[in-house]
Amino acid sequence: MTQKDSAVPTLPHSQLRSSGGTPIAPRSDFPQPVRGDGAQPVVGDSFHEMWRELLPIGRHPDSRGYRRFAWTGVDLECRAWFKQQAEARGLGYEVDRNGNQWAWLGDPAAGDAVVTGSHLDSVPDGGAFDGPLGVVSSFAALDELLGRGVHFTKPLAVVNFGDEEGARFGLACVGSRLTAGQLTVEGAQKLTDGDGVSLPRAMEAAGYDPEAIGADPERLGRIGAFVELHVEQGRALDLSGDRVGIASAIWPHGRWRFDFRGEANHAGTTRLVDRRDPMLSYAETVLAARHEAELAGAVATFGKISVEPNGVNAIPSLVRGWLDSRAEDQASLDRVVGGIEQAARDYAAAHGIDLDVVRESFTPVVEFDHALRDELARILGKHTDITVPVLGTGAGHDAGILSGTIPTAMLFVRNPTGVSHSPAEFAAEDDCVAGVTALADVLEGLACT
Ligand code: GLV
Ligand code: MN
Ligand code: MN
Repeated sequence: MTQKDSAVPTLPHSQLRSSGGTPIAPRSDFPQPVRGDGAQPVVGDSFHEMWRELLPIGRHPDSRGYRRFAWTGVDLECRAWFKQQAEARGLGYEVDRNGNQWAWLGDPAAGDAVVTGSHLDSVPDGGAFDGPLGVVSSFAALDELLGRGVHFTKPLAVVNFGDEEGARFGLACVGSRLTAGQLTVEGAQKLTDGDGVSLPRAMEAAGYDPEAIGADPERLGRIGAFVELHVEQGRALDLSGDRVGIASAIWPHGRWRFDFRGEANHAGTTRLVDRRDPMLSYAETVLAARHEAELAGAVATFGKISVEPNGVNAIPSLVRGWLDSRAEDQASLDRVVGGIEQAARDYAAAHGIDLDVVRESFTPVVEFDHALRDELARILGKHTDITVPVLGTGAGHDAGILSGTIPTAMLFVRNPTGVSHSPAEFAAEDDCVAGVTALADVLEGLACT
């Protein structure tokens, strides 16, 4: 595969072999693999097949990016794919009260389960890897373990968390936040998409029961460890020359909505001095965000905007911009966002604009569980021919949400473009396979001891 093909990350046909084998029957005790027949390890076999199946789902023909938004028809196609993967392996399939999908090897009620997975939804025109790489690698790692003929001593599950990106309803990680009790039922019920469709109505339209949503401590109480594999969203691994890394921490981050309200008027007849144009204060605020982020070594982005009445020949009455900001520590983030808000207020006042700033979501700093992290390093350190660096990230993940409740860890797979949330997101075939192997090693170390 060449970099040129990155928008169509397929794998060579020569690599496509069926993982074969007899489906594993779900059992109430810890199931033992049925492929421990001395067959060659199956690293990558099933990965290629699953990857090919998922690739066309939700890919926009013009942008070549993915539009897999929560509870849409495309999301349902992704969910159907997940269910089919679970059933093809004879895993116990369930959808929890918040719409997250689970595929179980062994009895979940036995407790101390090892869970792996990620998400299948995307940002608008996202890449193929953010989320799906983790889910596909999880099923492939399970296949690999079955091929190795390991002896499971704990239940193991693959999970697909719903609405991780928050592309439709504005809040990231809705599935895991609800499950962990970090989003209230009332809060979730108030979420609406750009067309005014509420989250409950969207779930209902997709055939799920919105009355059931809420915290699920019992489910999380059965999990001993959650490991999420994810494409790296930067170039640290590329620069260090490593295929796989372990996550150390996630920067604190949040989303803020800035509503600049002025007065709609005629673009041709209104004198400049008579205008109350909210676009001006918005534009100045965008520049202030860049400045504040630079000062603090942080990041700040206005990546989404809506304008009313949105006419070429009308001065806007409302400019609504969403700020995403992240910093290494809380104090820096507070300084950045405080500075941007103050600048916005000053500019708004200067132009006679009313300003409201609402914090729509926030995720505090995440330090991944040190013991689990060390365990991953120990397991992967057995391979003396590879190094596995430990990396921090500015990206949010379901693993970060769950880390407040259960031990979680993450593995990153090299992304030579460093680009993410874009069709240019990429991971090479060999690195994907290295990720599957690393995940299989980790799961074997955690669930088969
Ligand atoms: C999720 O990918 C986020 O960091 O916004
Ligand atoms: Mn993402
Ligand atoms: Mn992701």
